[in-house]
Amino acid sequence: MQQATAIAHPNIALVKYWGKRDMRLNLPAVGSLSITLDALCTRTQVRFDSALSADRFILDGVDEDAGRVTACLDLLRAAARIDTRARVDSSNDFPTAAGLASSASGFAALVVAADAALGLGLTPHMLSRHARRGSGSAARSIFGGFVEMARGRREDGADAVAQPLLDAGAWPLEVLIAVTEQAAKPLASSAAMAATSESAPYYAAWVRSSRPDLRAARKAVLARDFDALADVSVHSCLKMHALMMSSRPPVLYWNAATVACMRRISALREAGLPVFYTIDAGPQVKAICKSEAHDAVEHALRSIAGVVEVRSSGLGGAARVVEEGA
Ligand code: PMV
Repeated sequence: MQQATAIAHPNIALVKYWGKRDMRLNLPAVGSLSITLDALCTRTQVRFDSALSADRFILDGVDEDAGRVTACLDLLRAAARIDTRARVDSSNDFPTAAGLASSASGFAALVVAADAALGLGLTPHMLSRHARRGSGSAARSIFGGFVEMARGRREDGADAVAQPLLDAGAWPLEVLIAVTEQAAKPLASSAAMAATSESAPYYAAWVRSSRPDLRAARKAVLARDFDALADVSVHSCLKMHALMMSSRPPVLYWNAATVACMRRISALREAGLPVFYTIDAGPQVKAICKSEAHDAVEHALRSIAGVVEVRSSGLGGAARVVEEGA
């Protein structure tokens, strides 16, 4: 029996990935830039077992469809030249599929654990490439701190991988997550992306304008320029959501508390606090701030009607193996 356990953290995109240039290989239409969180965590054990006739995927104790897990594991099996099926046990210490990027940490932990179980010793570059097949954002969760994901040009996706931009410790921003809904989201990001690329009238403009956003965000991160990063991040977030809203049928992930959080965070920033927000494919609001603003932002978010929980996180490290064994 070949087995290993890995942990990985979710990441939050500041310049968003939305849209695919190749569905089968899961190649992004745009590059993206993210921060990896330390407080939230996925823990995944992969155990290859010749007695199994199919992969089994158990998420938080419940048997789930293993389709995407199998697609990802097939890449590692091919590299190891084996056909053995695996049992995958995964758990999240945060709500699954509610816009907290559980697929990012999930697939990053999966490939890191499978790589260790099979003794492949793949480079982070290859791990990122394989994780991307599970979920585009998972390619970024292989790394810690500030991470940039390339759109890539190649048709085989060899250059559509993430790479680290700046260590977590080099610019220790903090993140507060206002959870406004605990239930799983109604529409998965892949389906929503397909709807937008087929029907949103601004889709071409979205793809075209992502390059300057990425350049501005990269420059801001390397210069630790908070205001510049805040401006481009809020712009990228709202542009992505406007794109979703303009598709047919429309996609709207926000609820009333989501909007209340956005307004409150904007007001705090206007009053001089170093804080801005971002929102992914769900109703949760993530406030990114310098540490001196943390307590005021937390207090403000907790007082908003509809906010059921506020979680704090610093920036976290790379996906890593925590247990190996035969
Ligand atoms: O990686 P996916 O398929 O879950 O898509 C992620 C999409 C967003 O979270 C909305 C944006 C991003 O870049 O993470």
